[in-house]
Parts: sequence; structure tokens; C-alpha cells
Amino acid sequence: MIQHIATVAGLRAALAASGHDRDGRVALVPTMGALHEGHISLVNEARKHSGLVVVSIFVNPTQFAVGEDFDAYPRSLDADMKKLAGGADIVFAPSAREMYPGGHATTISVGGPAAGLETDFRPHFFAGVATVVAKLLIAAGPDVAVFGEKDYQQLLVVKRLVRDLALPVTIIGAPILREADGLALSSRNAYLSTGERRIAGRLNVILKDAVAQARASGDLRAVEAAATEALWQAGFSHVDYVAIRDAQTLEHIAALDRPARILAAVKIGKTRLIDNMAVA
Ligand code: PAJ
Repeated sequence: MIQHIATVAGLRAALAASGHDRDGRVALVPTMGALHEGHISLVNEARKHSGLVVVSIFVNPTQFAVGEDFDAYPRSLDADMKKLAGGADIVFAPSAREMYPGGHATTISVGGPAAGLETDFRPHFFAGVATVVAKLLIAAGPDVAVFGEKDYQQLLVVKRLVRDLALPVTIIGAPILREADGLALSSRNAYLSTGERRIAGRLNVILKDAVAQARASGDLRAVEAAATEALWQAGFSHVDYVAIRDAQTLEHIAALDRPARILAAVKIGKTRLIDNMAVA
């Protein structure tokens, strides 16, 4: 049976009472719910590292800007609990009040890998993510926490946060789960109409082509420009960015002389999609 817990005190009490179960280790998988197979793959990864798996489900208001989809974001706790049966031991689903009690005035801001890309379009996003992830890590005190490469910049930001604050947890990055046509699974895919869904499937194909071109030509700026043009041609309503960056720091690079990653964000109607993959 999954334990459903809504308070930090309740979570700490449950973890203490469990004796951290079989191997004494705890893994945390932070999510915003509306769970799909991508999330479940993180839960399965977490299970490899610990006897007790905590999944948090919290649609974090501080990472949404005014005008973004906080109100529309899908919420399906009952269905999520069913999907986690057999996978998670504890679901931590706090209220906004529990995470941000009246007068909450503390924000964690991360530089380094948080600069640029998503931040150019969602300036307060990573402060919201870093603050809630720090709170979740402090509340659950896990040995490991698992994050998806789907949100590659977020994964690097969380790693930097944990290193800089010397939080005693190992951050594990897990690969992107994709649909048959390559579209990365995302809770936001539920927003897409049939026509939009078809266009959405072009994102990963165009990025794959860009990877091949980058390896062949080495002119990374020309490859980014060609991929941007291809995305517009494919019918996306806006291309926020396509960028080939240092895979560890997300700094600009001129050549594929180190591990590199291509990252992109596009809009299709009102829906914003992100994707990324290894280049070299
Ligand atoms: P959410 O979008 O629910 O994603 C939760 C975790 O699932 C993230 O680590 C994300 O990278 C991972 N994930 C999403 N789609 C995936 C896919 N197709 N394959 C593999 N992993 C995937 O990311 C957040 O929530 C929030 O920002 C959070 C970290 C919970 C902080 O509020």
C-alpha cells in the first residue's frame, strides 16, 4: 500500500517509522503529477538505488509566471496514485499552503547553468524550481533523487544547487522516454489537438537531423539557424531557441571539441514543448 502524505512533519514521521526499510536508503522523485511513463521510468530508476521510494506530486506555483498554464496544468492525483501502485512507497502531495506558508520569503537563485535558454523566456522559472527542489530535498532527506534529462537545463541546475549547498544527496539523471514518433512524453502533450500532435512529432526529428549536420559540418551556428528554419517550416507557431551548448555547463561553444548537447524550445498554439539530445 502506498502511503499518501500531505505534510512535511508527516513525511518525516513516516520516514523515521519506516526505519528507511530494507536497505536503509531513500530515493526521491519530484514531479508535478499528471504522471506518464516518463515519470514512471524515473520511479523505476529510483527503485534500483533504494529500498524506499518517495514520489512528490506538487504543481509548484512559484515556477509558473503570470499568464502561464498554472491553472490549466493537469491535476489527477487519484489516477497518479494508481499509476504508482507497486512502484512508490510514499506519495508526498502537499498543499501550496504547506510548501509556502503565509509570509514565505525565501528564494534560492542559481546562476551558472540557469543562465540563458529557458531563463531568456521564463526569467523566474529556475528560482521557483530551485526553491521547491531544495525544500523537497530538505523535507525528505533522500540518499538519491532522480530527475529526467527531458528537462536537461533543470537537471544541471539541480546538480549545481546540490553541489553549491553541499546537500547530502546524489542527483541521478535518467534518459528521455519518447512516443513511437520520437516526441518526448510530457504532461503538456495532453494540450495538443490531433493536428498539433502531428507537428509536435517533428521536433525530435529536426533535432536529430541537426545533430547529424553538426557532426558533419562543425559550423554550429549554421546548424542552429537551419534547425530553427526547419521548425518554422514544420508549422510550429514559435521557435524560442535551438542551441548547441557545452553539455556540462551549457556555455556557448564554437566547435564540437567537448561533450555537447542540442536544446530546443518551441510553441505550438499555446503549448510550449522542449526537447534535447546529445550531439557529441
Ligand atoms: P515534471 O514536469 O512533472 O517532471 C518531473 C520529472 O519527470 C522531471 O525530472 C522531468 O525531467 C521528468 N520527465 C518528464 N518527462 C519525461 C520523459 N519523457 N522522460 C523522462 N523523464 C521525464 O520537472 C518538474 O516536474 C518540476 O520542475 C519539478 C522538478 C517537480 C519541480 O517542481
